[in-house]
Amino acid sequence: MYVSIWCHNLNLSSRSLAIALVVCVTLVYFSYSFNACLFASISRSLQQSNLRNLLTLQRRNVSSEPVKDAGTAPEVTSSTAIMSNGTASAASIGNGIASVDGAPKYQMLRQQGLRPSRHLPDTLIIGVKKSGTRALLEFIRLHPDVRAAGSEVHFFDRHYQRGLRWYRHHMPYTIEGQITMEKTPSYFVTKEVPQRVYHMNPATKLLIVVRDPVTRAISDYTQAASKKADMKRFEQLAFVNGSYSVVDTNWGPVKIGVYARYLEHWILYFPLSQLLFISGERLIMDPAYEIGRVQDFLGLKRVVTEKHFYFNATKGFPCLFKSEARSTPHCLGKTKGRNHPHIDANAIERLREFYRPFNNKFYQLTGINFAWP
Ligand code: A3P
Repeated sequence: MYVSIWCHNLNLSSRSLAIALVVCVTLVYFSYSFNACLFASISRSLQQSNLRNLLTLQRRNVSSEPVKDAGTAPEVTSSTAIMSNGTASAASIGNGIASVDGAPKYQMLRQQGLRPSRHLPDTLIIGVKKSGTRALLEFIRLHPDVRAAGSEVHFFDRHYQRGLRWYRHHMPYTIEGQITMEKTPSYFVTKEVPQRVYHMNPATKLLIVVRDPVTRAISDYTQAASKKADMKRFEQLAFVNGSYSVVDTNWGPVKIGVYARYLEHWILYFPLSQLLFISGERLIMDPAYEIGRVQDFLGLKRVVTEKHFYFNATKGFPCLFKSEARSTPHCLGKTKGRNHPHIDANAIERLREFYRPFNNKFYQLTGINFAWP
């Protein structure tokens, strides 16, 4: 009898023990799930805000690299997979890029379900050479939603046969919402380029910096002379037979300044609403104003403001702070803002006279009076 009572008590206590155990496990399970959710959501929002900083940091590293000719860049391998939405998946890029893709920052982004990928450009800076194209690119790429190829890719003029896959491989990684940009100033003056850009994407936005064509020609000449010791004088090259009566319109530095002629090709393919003209003179005098216009045109929040610029008296040009906190002041390199040689005033006057009708035509086509002398 004692044994049976003992057995009964044992049954009762093990039943309550089992119930207590189930309650405990349930409590632990719910508390664990709740905490896991909480931590995951905190970590996701923290990492998303770090994401842009990471990509901005990478972009700045690229921007501080010297400008290279695109022809020296490695070709994309055949293992590059092009996705149906026109992107090359970061995970699918072959050889050269695999090391980039495997970098910790990309692994971290992938863990967060964010896949940075290379896209064809949405926006191009197409010219005009020696008008301030590098300054424009450096200024606008301060914006966290703009990512740009570091060097001039020359896809539409020199490397078109390599195909869009090659071109895309030269673009930076972006995440959703970021604009991909490229600048190659020779696009503006190369006849085949408007049609080729149109075929890539008829909605491409085009940025064009223009400057008084006479100063532009002198700047172009100064650059060429800096590379060739025995260069003839500007006045000898800009006119036929050495007299100032006939302007040599076949000489590159003069020819490029006939902006209206080149613009006519572009407007055959693109409406004016897709083109933004930036004054090279104003980009120097008031960079924040011009960059404000560019941000509006690209549908971006006005993040780059006057706080990012300061006038560097030694350089004689505006330079920039890489953040609003005014850290890391940065001027463009020595090849931008060169001293120009003295040019005979009569030669300058003759060139002004030559350009005047073309400038007027350009003002008429663009609807903007740039007031060049
Ligand atoms: P100069 O070197 O003749 O003065 P690009 O980048 O298209 O080659 O244009 C070069 C020109 O950009 C320079 O020509 C200079 O006048 C102009 N520029 C505009 N903003 C500048 C800046 N912040 N720093 C240096 N050069 C600038």
